[in-house]
Amino acid sequence: MPNRDTVQEIKEKLSVLDVVQPYVKMMRSGKYWKGHSPFNKEKTPSFFVSPDRGTYYCFSSGQGGDMFTFIEKMEGVDFRGALKILADKAGVSIQAYDGGIDHSFTERLRDAHARAGQFFVRTFTKETPAWKYALSRGLSEETISAWGIGYAPDQWRALLEELTTAGFSQKELLQSGLVKEADGKPGTFYDRFRNRLVFPIRDSAGRTVGFIGRALSESEPAKYLNSPETELFKKSEVLFGIDKAKDSIRTRGYVLLVEGQMDVVHCHQAGFTNAIAISGTALSSAHITLMKRYADNVVFMLDSDRAGLAATARAAKLALSSGMHVKAVALPEGKDPADILSQDTHDFPKHLSEAQSIVEFFLSTILRNEQNRHKQILATETIVIPLLSAIESPLERDHFIGVVANGLGISLDAVRKSLSNRATVAKGMDGVRTSQMEEKVFEGAPLSPVLARAEALCATVLNYPDSALSKRIKDEYLRIMNEPLGDTVSHHALFEVGIALGEQPSPDACDDLIRSFERSVLEEQYEDALAQLRIAQAQGDLDAQKKAEVICSQLLKRIATCT
Ligand code: UTP
Ligand code: MN
Repeated sequence: MPNRDTVQEIKEKLSVLDVVQPYVKMMRSGKYWKGHSPFNKEKTPSFFVSPDRGTYYCFSSGQGGDMFTFIEKMEGVDFRGALKILADKAGVSIQAYDGGIDHSFTERLRDAHARAGQFFVRTFTKETPAWKYALSRGLSEETISAWGIGYAPDQWRALLEELTTAGFSQKELLQSGLVKEADGKPGTFYDRFRNRLVFPIRDSAGRTVGFIGRALSESEPAKYLNSPETELFKKSEVLFGIDKAKDSIRTRGYVLLVEGQMDVVHCHQAGFTNAIAISGTALSSAHITLMKRYADNVVFMLDSDRAGLAATARAAKLALSSGMHVKAVALPEGKDPADILSQDTHDFPKHLSEAQSIVEFFLSTILRNEQNRHKQILATETIVIPLLSAIESPLERDHFIGVVANGLGISLDAVRKSLSNRATVAKGMDGVRTSQMEEKVFEGAPLSPVLARAEALCATVLNYPDSALSKRIKDEYLRIMNEPLGDTVSHHALFEVGIALGEQPSPDACDDLIRSFERSVLEEQYEDALAQLRIAQAQGDLDAQKKAEVICSQLLKRIATCT
């Protein structure tokens, strides 16, 4: 773990306001400061800082945190990077800190990758077959050098010898993934990448963590060859091109997600510098977290064959449920961005401008591909409804419910029912807790009324800890729930409540909220009791039926008193 003392010391020396102000012009607003979001373009300031708590919250992008997360997002660094920057600013010296990883070993692997990258670049001369290949693919010399594209020579042990001479042990080379042991020939080692055009894969700070090599002819069995998973290279955490794209993603406000290395490099070469790719793996939640550091919008420009569409739908669901806004573009059959851009860069903006929201994209794909109406509806149910249910914002979801109803010529009500059927199936018919997997699917879905209100109450107590208002809330909560109020609450709720209630709320400021909280708790209990009653009826269990009836009528009475 990082040194707690160092973090504390930095927080004592710096105010979150000192950290934020170089990036955002802030104005005082009661006990908060506000300004325009640095994460989104906006007209009305929605970025709030609380110097008392040392935190910030951005309403337009729904993200908040402390000075460390702020620097991570703004500078595109990890926690360690932020620690360095802030320690510097605060004039605090960092004591040795390692995250429990064998530091020197990781450093050795980094060094091996840096040297390998230099080696591939050095061997990539104009006389090599790879040079001719790169030019034939439309890459400029400038691009080749900017991306550190290199050549792995057509030899068995060129890199192995280079790195061994530089002092790396056999064990280090094996663990780096740059060198392999021959199958069935223990003790025989050779280079993983041979006779390939090599792209370095870099993390968001621009450090090389792996490589991917393109075969120079289509007759090779593997078109692309990746570094294996190593201590440095985790496929599901790396976005190819992020180091070069991050600034542009932030200023343009969206990620352009394409399929492969050639696509990314071509996009950048043509000025579409917010392009990145996942290389040869499914989009993961770590990828999304990384993207969300820079923007909340993503445009998918992926393969439009069947497998490609299925992958796009899966990826879109994940992105939507993390609160991202998702669009997609279909390119002409069988073409990818690299194909289009290497011929002519003029058509590309037109394709990009045809990006549709992901719901409309799939709806129109289905309407185009399926002539049969029944099949259209079934396909909508399997593909589009899950997308709707993954949309985080209720307003946005409602908008797209309208789009689907309109597109299919069915009623809004039918779309809503289909959506809630899905939710009920996932929840389990008799109110049993949702399985973990289904919870994952619904991660990021809006809170139930009970949870949302409990969160607001909790946020109030945290905002005004020693007030009469807080005491009232805590007592009432204990009465209603038979257990004390917890203290887990989102940044969003904290700020929302603090802004709504102002400096010194009166002790009864939350009475309406308390009442509606109680009502929603009772309503939830009533739903459960009703389900019990139905089960008892279905099973012909008269005893249980009686009990459930009593509970139901008691609950109804109580509900009536709190409206
Ligand atoms: P594609 O097969 O679509 O290749 O794979 P491409 O990007 O169009 O490549 P070019 O234009 O023929 O050179 C998409 C991505 O999937 C990964 C690579 O990252 C590739 O860019 N991939 C593909 C692999 O990792 N291994 C493979 O064998 C093939
Ligand atoms: Mn291609």
